[in-house]
Amino acid sequence: MTGTGPPIQDGIDTTRPHPARVYDWFLGGKDNYPVDEELGRRIAAIDGGAPKAARANRAFMRRGTRMLATERGIRQFLDIGTGIPTEPNLHRIAQSVAPDARVVYVDNDPLVLAHASALLRGTPQGVTEYVQADARDPHAILDEAARVLDLDRPVALSLIALLHFIADEDGAHDLVDTLVGALAPGSCLVLSTMTADFEPENVRRGIAAYAAGGVTLVARSRAGVGTFFEGLRLLEPGIVSVAEWRPEEAPDGPISLYGGVAVKP
Ligand SMILES: C[S@@+](CC[C@H](N)C(=O)[O-])C[C@H]1O[C@@H](n2cnc3c(N)ncnc32)[C@H](O)[C@@H]1O
Repeated sequence: MTGTGPPIQDGIDTTRPHPARVYDWFLGGKDNYPVDEELGRRIAAIDGGAPKAARANRAFMRRGTRMLATERGIRQFLDIGTGIPTEPNLHRIAQSVAPDARVVYVDNDPLVLAHASALLRGTPQGVTEYVQADARDPHAILDEAARVLDLDRPVALSLIALLHFIADEDGAHDLVDTLVGALAPGSCLVLSTMTADFEPENVRRGIAAYAAGGVTLVARSRAGVGTFFEGLRLLEPGIVSVAEWRPEEAPDGPISLYGGVAVKP
C-alpha cells in the first residue's frame, strides 16, 4: 500500500501505526502503510527477533490447528484476533484435514474486515465466516458464532497473539472465562501471548516502542499465562515458547511468546 490518499478511509487510519498492519509487515505482507513499516523497522532494530517471532507464532497456529483437527477430531473453529489474511490461513489448515470444518473468524480491525474476502474462500463442504467484533464483548461474539457453529459440540477457540493487546484490567480473564464457559466439553483453547521471561530487555524496549506508537502491549509471565488455562487440561508440552510447542524443526533461538493448547473437561 502506498499510504497516499485520505488518512482515514472506511475506518482505516493511515496516520497511526496499527498492530495488525505492523504484524503484517513483520510477515512480509503488503497490507500495511508507511507508518506501520516505520514502527516495524524501529521494533526490529530494537528486537531483531520480532519478525522471527511473528513467523514462529504463525507456525504455532498451523501446528495447533492441524493437531486439533487430526488428533482430536475438532471440526469447529472460533478464531478471535484473526489478523490480516496470511496464507495459509486457519481455515485452509482445518479444511485440508476435514473439508467440512466450520470456521468463524473475528477481529475488530476495519482493515481485516476489508480483506475478509480472502478469509472466506473455503471448501464448499465447510463454512468460513467473518465477524467484525471486539474480543472485549465476548457475548456478542458468541451470539454471532452460534449462527454458524453448534456450541453444544466441541469448538477450538483460538486466541493467537491477541491477549497481549488486552490487559488484565481490561477484562482479559473475563473474556477468556466467558468464551470457554460457553463451549461444550471437549472444546479446546489455543492461546499464544507475549512474555518478557526469555528476553526481558528486548521485550521491554519493544513494548516502549509500541507505546510510543500509541499501541499498548502486555507481557505476561508463564504463571500469568497459566491463569488463562485454569480449569482446563493442558496438552503436552504445556505452556512453552511457541517455537517449542511440538516443533517440526529445531527452534531458532528464544521466541518471546508463550503458547499452549488445553482441553475443556
Ligand atoms: C498480532 S495479530 C495476530 C493475528 C493472528 N491471530 C496470528 O496469530 O497470526 C493480532 C490481531 O488481534 C486483533 N485484535 C487486537 N485487539 C482486539 C480486540 N480487542 N478485539 C478483536 N481483535 C483484536 C488485531 O486487530 C490483530 O488483527
